[in-house]
Amino acid sequence: MEIMEFSCPETVPELSRQAAELVLEIGNYKRTRGIDKILENMVDRTTVVAIDGSEQVIGTAGLRIVRAHIGMLEDVVSEPRRRRSGVGSSVVQAVENIARWQGISELVLASTREGVPFYKHLGYTQLAVRIFQKYL
Ligand SMILES: CC(C)(COP(=O)(O)OP(=O)(O)OC[C@H]1O[C@@H](n2cnc3c(N)ncnc32)[C@H](O)[C@@H]1OP(=O)(O)O)[C@@H](O)C(=O)NCCC(=O)NCCS
Repeated sequence: MEIMEFSCPETVPELSRQAAELVLEIGNYKRTRGIDKILENMVDRTTVVAIDGSEQVIGTAGLRIVRAHIGMLEDVVSEPRRRRSGVGSSVVQAVENIARWQGISELVLASTREGVPFYKHLGYTQLAVRIFQKYL
């Protein structure tokens, strides 16, 4: 598995399209947002993708800077057949590293129900029902 990052989806159209298709898997995105909205949301943030040996995106996560030193972890998803094999952890840890390099000291996120045990496992603190935070 290889980890890549990009900030400009137009420069990597195939990777960003595959990542956006994975993001459609999250919660009720399919009902509320189409693939174009997801791609639009990738502009002005950093997107991390995990790629398998056949150049397929098997996981993704996004980092948006919301305030000085505070980042939002967005659109975390792994390919359904690859879950519980470390892909989700790898993309989140890659985002955490990028955030540290950018001087971010705190990450916040809104989780799905499925994400709750996952973020606890990764050391995030639950602030409210689906809201998590971690100091880096
Ligand atoms: C949440 C999600 C990203 C986790 O991805 P993953 O690739 O399975 O994550 P990992 O394999 O790195 O899991 C790491 C640990 O998190 C915990 N964990 C992950 N998924 C879990 C689940 N469904 N139930 C309980 N614990 C879970 C486990 O402790 C796991 O370690 P283990 O497999 O050794 O027990 C994935 O289930 C997913 O894409 N879900 C749908 C989209 C979604 O809800 N994303 C969260 C958006 S905020």
